Amino acid sequence: MFIHLKDVSYTYNLNMPFETVALKGINLKVNRGEFIGIIGHTGCGKTTLLQLLNGLIEPTKGQIFIENIDIHKNKKKLKEIRKKIGLSFQYPENQFFEENIFKEIAFGPKNMGVAEEQLVQSVKKSLQMVDMDYQSFKDRSPFSLSGGEMRRVAIASILAIDPEVIILDEPTASLDPQSCSKLLSVIVDLYQKYHKTIIMVSHNMEIMAKLARRIIVMEKGEIIMDDTPRNIFQKSIDRLEDIGLSLPQVTYTMYKLKKIGKPVSSGILTVEEAKEEILKLVNENKK
Ligand SMILES: Nc1ncnc2c1ncn2[C@@H]1O[C@H](COP(=O)(O)OP(=O)(O)O)[C@@H](O)[C@H]1O
Ligand SMILES: [Mg+2]
Repeated sequence: MFIHLKDVSYTYNLNMPFETVALKGINLKVNRGEFIGIIGHTGCGKTTLLQLLNGLIEPTKGQIFIENIDIHKNKKKLKEIRKKIGLSFQYPENQFFEENIFKEIAFGPKNMGVAEEQLVQSVKKSLQMVDMDYQSFKDRSPFSLSGGEMRRVAIASILAIDPEVIILDEPTASLDPQSCSKLLSVIVDLYQKYHKTIIMVSHNMEIMAKLARRIIVMEKGEIIMDDTPRNIFQKSIDRLEDIGLSLPQVTYTMYKLKKIGKPVSSGILTVEEAKEEILKLVNENKK
């Protein structure tokens, strides 16, 4: 296993009058090749968890192992390990600071000592992975891009250090539908074509149901569910609503059909699945 959080807690402003417990007793194992979706109400600790996962902050209690190394006991390794786990912050475009896209993406590898002549290769490859053309974009200002392109450049700047794991904090927040679906297809490529491990926070249940292979539900600093999307959305409808989370719209619709006695499967996650079920129902009625 790749990342292992063992009984991890995190408190902001520890031992101060205004301390905030953000995470309590988190146990989590992440394997290579996973696509994990993290959901939970605002303030439940998702962003804090992501920052712990890439070693950006240190737990106030518990241990974090990456490839069996306790990363906070081994500071020399910490930097090296953080290269393997790229974290894309929420609204990453707020962190742009270079005058052109080439410099923006080259910043990470350059800082790590990658030679000038290799930087071009690295930037080219990273842009290609987010489906952007090197020649047309390299000299443009990152601030001149559309919202969706900015997000892709931000991801490219993480890809430039060639991490094995990509962590994304609400990557599609406030994007228009078209940019959103473009970005999602880039994320799917990172997972399927480039074999990156993906850990992603999103409030969009349709996206989570469709993309994630494993969903972690958080509430008030704790992990309360950890299962496949189908199991989560099928078995825990009431529980999810209790904690203020919704289901994919299509799951609700099918759930309601079932409730009024129609013979449809529960736990439908995608429009395609719903279509199959409804067609079955219609054909049944025709007979
Ligand atoms: N820098 C900070 N200083 C103090 N408290 C914080 C800070 N960042 C987050 N918190 C608090 O920690 C808790 C978890 O926050 P966060 O991890 O950002 O949750 P989420 O990403 O799920 O919205 C919240 O109560 C939040 O107010
Ligand atoms: Mg957050």
